[in-house]
Amino acid sequence: MERFNLLALSGSLRKSSYNTAALKALELLAPSHIKISVGDIAKLPLFNPDREEENIPALGELKLVLGESDGLIIASPEYAHGVSGPLKNALDWLVSGAEFPVMPIMLINTSPRASHAQASLREILTTMSANVIHKAHVSIPLLSSELDVEGIVANTEISAALQNGLAVFCQEIKALKSFGGLS
Ligand SMILES: Cc1cc2nc3c(=O)[nH]c(=O)nc-3n(C[C@H](O)[C@H](O)[C@H](O)COP(=O)(O)O)c2cc1C
Repeated sequence: MERFNLLALSGSLRKSSYNTAALKALELLAPSHIKISVGDIAKLPLFNPDREEENIPALGELKLVLGESDGLIIASPEYAHGVSGPLKNALDWLVSGAEFPVMPIMLINTSPRASHAQASLREILTTMSANVIHKAHVSIPLLSSELDVEGIVANTEISAALQNGLAVFCQEIKALKSFGGLS
């Protein structure tokens, strides 16, 4: 069976973040041929183009893992109708890198009422020449649910939605690879 390495980034720095919990739950729910690594964007400095040539360990690590990944999964909260600052900061650091163009992206929205950040995120990612896989989009009502990682895994409806989205995402990555759209 074909193996997939996926990087997952949460736009929330909160300890009890629903977005981070959704990604960690997906890591546990993924079948053995799909490896999901939840990355860390908290240690990135504030984006400054003057520093792009500097050796920034947190950025180097992020780029290395992203470069070795078959796809990127993003789950981000909406703040004041926008994408979270930490996620936008991470994306700004990645804008001029070679890792992003044609990268397949799966978006997870943990608060279905939050439509502005999702729309903005799609625009940003498309501008960065990533390949947002719309069919793999997952919307799950975690906000105010009090569910943690274990609770999400145990919730049959929510875990099935995450697993279905992941399966579609990997099918699309496989199809893109076979059509030569990915290396
Ligand atoms: C300062 C602030 C602004 C927010 N603005 C919005 C908003 O504009 N739209 C929305 O749907 N939710 C908004 N929220 C709710 C967050 O998106 C929600 O708490 C989310 O679960 C946070 O994600 P996390 O659990 O992964 O940390 C806001 C929350 C905070 C703290």
